[in-house]
Amino acid sequence: MKALILSGGKGTRLRPLTYTGAKQLVPVANKPILWYGIEEMVTAGITDIGIIISPETGAEVQAKTGNGERFGANITYILQDKPAGLAHAVQVARPFLRDSPFVMYLGDNVIQQGDLSYFLKKFIQETQDALILLRPVANPSAFGVAKVDDAGRVLQLIEKPKIPPSNLALVGVYFFSHIIHEAIATIQPSTRGELEITDAIQCLIDRKKQVVACKLEGWWLDTGKKDDLLEANRLILDTYLTKSILGMVDSESQIIGRVQIGERSRIINCTIRGPVVIGTDCHLENCFIGPYSSIADNVTLIETDLEHSVVLENAKIVGIHQRIIDSVIGQRAQLTIAPRRPKALRFMIGDDCHIELT
Ligand code: TTP
Repeated sequence: MKALILSGGKGTRLRPLTYTGAKQLVPVANKPILWYGIEEMVTAGITDIGIIISPETGAEVQAKTGNGERFGANITYILQDKPAGLAHAVQVARPFLRDSPFVMYLGDNVIQQGDLSYFLKKFIQETQDALILLRPVANPSAFGVAKVDDAGRVLQLIEKPKIPPSNLALVGVYFFSHIIHEAIATIQPSTRGELEITDAIQCLIDRKKQVVACKLEGWWLDTGKKDDLLEANRLILDTYLTKSILGMVDSESQIIGRVQIGERSRIINCTIRGPVVIGTDCHLENCFIGPYSSIADNVTLIETDLEHSVVLENAKIVGIHQRIIDSVIGQRAQLTIAPRRPKALRFMIGDDCHIELT
């Protein structure tokens, strides 16, 4: 059994963060999203992992993630020269996959720990041609959607339908036997110019191959957009964070609940209400940091109120007393305010930024 994790793509919905980096490396609870998928594979016993990368962000993904040693896995990087679709990625990976059965996992998705092992066992024991996971969602038009009969058999799959036949979205985790390659060889690019994995699975259904759909009961998040990223951050901090304080906390500070503070970070006269994770080498002074916040390494926060937010490496926020909520602050971003009440606001804002002064 092999794994194929897709970490190419364009990441247009997460701009401007994806102008300078891979969306799969954006941290959730201070860990790149991609790494959750890799860890799930290893927990399920799959250590032969191929990762699809793009020419734009591939080197960064490779440099950060390495050869797999840190996960107890063996990682092979596979370059997809253009983001021509999920089925195209499988095609490009054929020399790595050969005729092995495999799990395909979208590198910007996160599922509840343990679920992958459960469905992998089911796939192996029942030797299907394909096992797909479905989950009810509020906005099915944004996903691949399945029409299923009463016995749970998949009748039809449609990519981002205008009029969805059900509210069951295809989760970004698929189990395939080698038969999928034959199906991919027969499909054509869709109207959006991509080789769609939904079309390849539809081809299996039409040929009466064994395609089984299971409902995913645990949580699943596609972190392709800001609010989904914040929700993934909230869920992971809520579920897995344990208390650990390695940095320095002065006697004026109050640490409440599950808070992690990394090495060499200094916390001076702050109130931090968990769950909160703070990386290494940070400087926090006169701040309130509220629940569901993740602060990456080397961040400076002074005179700042913040909660339910993700702050990336080397960012600096000074003097913002209105509470910052539901925000993602990019790497090296600077947000500062004059000590007295400002009469004017001065910005240098990159393309596609979202700023709301509410
Ligand atoms: P998407 O989120 O569907 O596509 P995208 O990354 O281009 O994002 P956006 O819609 O915001 O522009 O892709 C799901 C995952 O699959 C993601 O991790 C990127 C990856 N992917 C590839 O590796 N190759 C591809 O050809 C495509 C389309 C996606």
